[in-house]
Amino acid sequence: MSDGPAAPVIAIDGPSGSGKGTIAALVAARLGWRLLDSGALYRIVAWAALARGIPLDDPQRLAAMTRALAIEQGATAVRVDGVDVTTAIREERISVGAAAVATLPEVRQTLRGVQQGMRVAPGLIADGRDMGTEVFRDAELKIYLDASVEERARRRHKQLMEKGSSVSLRDLFASIQARDRSDRNRAVSPLRRAPDAISIDTTEMSVEAVVAEVLKHVEARGLTAGRAREGEGSRGGE
Ligand code: C5P
Repeated sequence: MSDGPAAPVIAIDGPSGSGKGTIAALVAARLGWRLLDSGALYRIVAWAALARGIPLDDPQRLAAMTRALAIEQGATAVRVDGVDVTTAIREERISVGAAAVATLPEVRQTLRGVQQGMRVAPGLIADGRDMGTEVFRDAELKIYLDASVEERARRRHKQLMEKGSSVSLRDLFASIQARDRSDRNRAVSPLRRAPDAISIDTTEMSVEAVVAEVLKHVEARGLTAGRAREGEGSRGGE
């Protein structure tokens, strides 16, 4: 542990299908920073609970289970207790389960420690719902991505079709609306834009255009050269 300033964080929040995952991964690759996909952590909790027959509304058992999980989030694969769950956690039933366990303060609290532990030099790109509002309130840059619900459903549909899933666009639209409602209205860490976040509506934008826009703000805050250089040498976590 260093006594110096904490590594810089770029928080990218927004609703499902707003493009966070794709944009966060590309920005992380561009900067050579670590990527935190916090949604994957909620998905892992839901997946592990369903696999073990633990009810998704039992906060104590879920928190205890979560504390015992060995989670490895690499650049291309996610493993839980040595099992590759990269594909399994993207199933629609897990999306629904993740939104359910995400309403529980005990689960959020446990995952908060995991998330904050990923803040390492040269920097962290953190993608989620409450990165800028809760987990990394002191993030150097906060981005809030949004898009129309129709566009978000279309994107998710395309993603799932490419993975061989046959969910209908209509069902996905309803599912995204239900998750939005749950994410925005839950009592703990609801999805909302941090007051100091920069909003980008990605409905009509290409991925490249959004990445360019984010990188423009990264540069404007002086996060590329100076900070990244400070952290050099302590990179290479995985
Ligand atoms: O981003 P993704 O769709 O993978 O997230 C799955 C679910 O996890 C979300 O619908 C949300 O309920 C929850 N989540 C959260 N806080 C985060 C990230 C995800 O509550 N920081």
